[in-house]
Amino acid sequence: MALLEIITIGHPTLARRALPVENINQEIVELARNMVETMHQAPGIGLAAPQVNVGLRLITIDLSVGENRDDLIIMVNPEIIEAEGEQVSEEGCLSVPGIYEKVARPLRILVRGHNLDGREVRLEASDLLARVFCHEIDHLDGKLFVDRLSPLKRRLLRSRLKKEQGKT
Ligand code: NI
Repeated sequence: MALLEIITIGHPTLARRALPVENINQEIVELARNMVETMHQAPGIGLAAPQVNVGLRLITIDLSVGENRDDLIIMVNPEIIEAEGEQVSEEGCLSVPGIYEKVARPLRILVRGHNLDGREVRLEASDLLARVFCHEIDHLDGKLFVDRLSPLKRRLLRSRLKKEQGKT
């Protein structure tokens, strides 16, 4: 297993729509394992393949950050097929370090995808798990959580990021 480099806001891969995984081969299995290790190490509760500069529809989620094996979710080609309700809570992202903002997400979702054995999986998620699924699937569509903020907040954020980059 290997740790992967997490790319950050401004990198073109994060703004691109990821392609479906056509074939769950050894390469995909290995990528998923490395993503899990990278997510745990970060530490984070979710990671999408575009964040490690791979434009494929693959996500890993673990609300326990490695504490509980049963919490680990690896999903290939995930899609939200039902969503209801709303929750507003603070969100962050390993690809947008140091920024935390309130984002509205569905309260409950039904997700469909495949596991690494190629079996179709359907999963109901609510609260934080629903939030993380939405956040990671957004990554697959080239969208960061900051893209969901109001235009004013986005402008403030952009000038803040520019200032920080100007420092180095
Ligand atoms: Ni993220």
